[in-house]
Amino acid sequence: MQTVVDSNFKTQQEPFDLIILAAGLGTRMKSGKAKVLHELGGKPLIAHVCRTARQLGPRNIYVVVGHQAAEVEAAVRQCVPGDVLRLITQATQRGTGDAVSAAREALKGSRATLMILSGDVPFIRPETLQRLLELHRNSGAACSILSTRLENPTGYGRIVRDENGKFRKIVEQKDASEAEREIREINSGFYCFDPQSLFSALRRVKPANMQGEYYLTDVPAILGDSGKRIEVNFHSDARELSGVNTRVELAEFENLLRRRTIRALMLDGGVTFIDPSNAYISADAQIGRDCVIHPEVVIEGDTVLGEGCVVRSGTRITNSRLGANVTVKDHCVIVDSEIGANCSVGPFAHLRMNAWLAESSAVGNFVEIKKSKLGPRSKSMHLTYLGDAIIGEDTNIGAGTVTCNYDGKKKNQTIIEDHVRIGSDTMLVAPVTVGSRSVTGAGSVVIDDVPPDSLVAGVPAIVKKRLSETMGEKED
Ligand code: UD1
Ligand code: CA
Repeated sequence: MQTVVDSNFKTQQEPFDLIILAAGLGTRMKSGKAKVLHELGGKPLIAHVCRTARQLGPRNIYVVVGHQAAEVEAAVRQCVPGDVLRLITQATQRGTGDAVSAAREALKGSRATLMILSGDVPFIRPETLQRLLELHRNSGAACSILSTRLENPTGYGRIVRDENGKFRKIVEQKDASEAEREIREINSGFYCFDPQSLFSALRRVKPANMQGEYYLTDVPAILGDSGKRIEVNFHSDARELSGVNTRVELAEFENLLRRRTIRALMLDGGVTFIDPSNAYISADAQIGRDCVIHPEVVIEGDTVLGEGCVVRSGTRITNSRLGANVTVKDHCVIVDSEIGANCSVGPFAHLRMNAWLAESSAVGNFVEIKKSKLGPRSKSMHLTYLGDAIIGEDTNIGAGTVTCNYDGKKKNQTIIEDHVRIGSDTMLVAPVTVGSRSVTGAGSVVIDDVPPDSLVAGVPAIVKKRLSETMGEKED
């Protein structure tokens, strides 16, 4: 990541700091969960902003936390390295101005430019903020504001200009006059400040407004009135600067992100979607060329699919790796698992917790595999549970097989070696091993290890005979 960043954004000559505001509840979400923790594309909103922040290469990233501070902190730690991250606590949420004031001590004496971001604006791109930073530095302004124009500006702070078009103030929706509400140019909530000017102006901010809050948005006018230079950087891509304030907006953002991801996979990645409007693919997933994704497929997290895979309807694949030419039939759930090339899975299979299918193996309907390896060319086609098992190559697991892995206290391992045929309805009471080339009869309850080259059957299963090594017929 770091090298990509450095080639895009030349290492800053002068260091700058960055604050992300993330202490608010987000009342309009009507949620018990802090807004910045609501997920977009499978990641909390704050994670999207943190990623952009990191790409800019600031000296420090201050994150102001308050509401559900511990949870927000945990989300932030996932995406910002500890040596850059500085957490600031805003004890009570008294507005965006108060949130920035909470960082006053931490930034005492600093003269480095301070960039401020909102934690709820997930589509902001580093290029846009880089331009804001450059404009701010080149102009020598005390404050630079990123603005855009919205068809429907309701809810946003408006940029009020004088008759010459010069910046006068920002007015919040709830405090705006009838005429001001007509203004379409809005404050995006992204700014650069000279920190000395910012913190001295913040002392003069009063909660004398409809919401009784300390508005950060009062600062530019305070600075302007005292003769400091204010820059407004207009940016035309309104969507990029839009915040998520309600669940309606969250769903719109999700849909947009989804369509972008799928479009790129089709145009750049050579992936076929039978119905692009009806597939759900994480932006972090990698889907190989010539894969075919059927309707109602959900691919989450950093899943990787090799080339030429086919995923049929109703399947969910989360944080898993699939090799080339894997077929996943309808209605499978595959989580944290690995599937080798040329395997076939499903319909109605459940693979989880490090299920590992080696190449050319197959799993059929109503089979659950947990923390188990199925060796090359081995099969388990019907109605089976394999948990904590290691299965060798060219082995067939008959219908209705269960690894009885749990003794009420702990999980025990089953080992099934190579070229084994487990008969239908075999119960393998773990810990237990079935040796190579052995066979269990239908309905066996295996409680003791089975030596290689043996046929066992019965309840409990006992050795019936020793098998010759050239044992012939194969089972499906
Ligand atoms: C804010 C701006 C508005 C702008 C809009 C753009 C103010 C007063 N208004 O409004 O001009 O158009 O963003 O998206 O700044 N937060 C805290 N502590 C608090 C309050 C908020 O950390 O006490 C955080 C929130 O978690 C959020 C961010 O600050 O990440 C913005 O707060 P929010 O309440 O969403 O502000 P808006 O009403 O959207
Ligand atoms: Ca907001």
